Amino acid sequence: MITITLEVNDVSRRVQVEPRRLLADVLREQFGLSGVHIGCAQGACGCCTVHVEGTPRLSCLTFAVQCDGKAIKTIESVGGSKAEHMLQTAFRTEHGLQCGYCTPGFIMTLMPFVEQMTGERRMPDEAEIREAMSGNICRCTGYHGIVAAVRKAIADSLEDTERP
Ligand code: FES
Ligand code: FES
Repeated sequence: MITITLEVNDVSRRVQVEPRRLLADVLREQFGLSGVHIGCAQGACGCCTVHVEGTPRLSCLTFAVQCDGKAIKTIESVGGSKAEHMLQTAFRTEHGLQCGYCTPGFIMTLMPFVEQMTGERRMPDEAEIREAMSGNICRCTGYHGIVAAVRKAIADSLEDTERP
């Protein structure tokens, strides 16, 4: 066992882990963060995406020990208790989810994209949006609703930044 320190959702905690333990398993089992979903466990579906030092990362392909001393954010940190981040709201209004299993991964993948587009003050075309989410698989929605949700989140975010 190795003792590491993980700052998860703004709380720093020391945990003991075996070197072979995956970040996804440690977050789910030792931190109780069940919003970190595991789909394929081999880097293909994006369900397990979390942020490590602000960058989306597949927690099923990351050893927990690689994150020693790093800041990690999971879906539980997004949007408050009612999940009201703009992107989460847009997923609901634009029917970007059905069973919801893939949704935490999509949200964690797409948040930086929405922020980037807002910073650049532009609406991406459909190909750019589909490219941004190309590492995530949804088995329910057919993706149209997800693309619409990303568009809405960017539109709302741009509108917000224009308010005095
Ligand atoms: S569970 Fe990690 S990419 Fe599928
Ligand atoms: S909403 Fe069911 S897998 Fe995406």
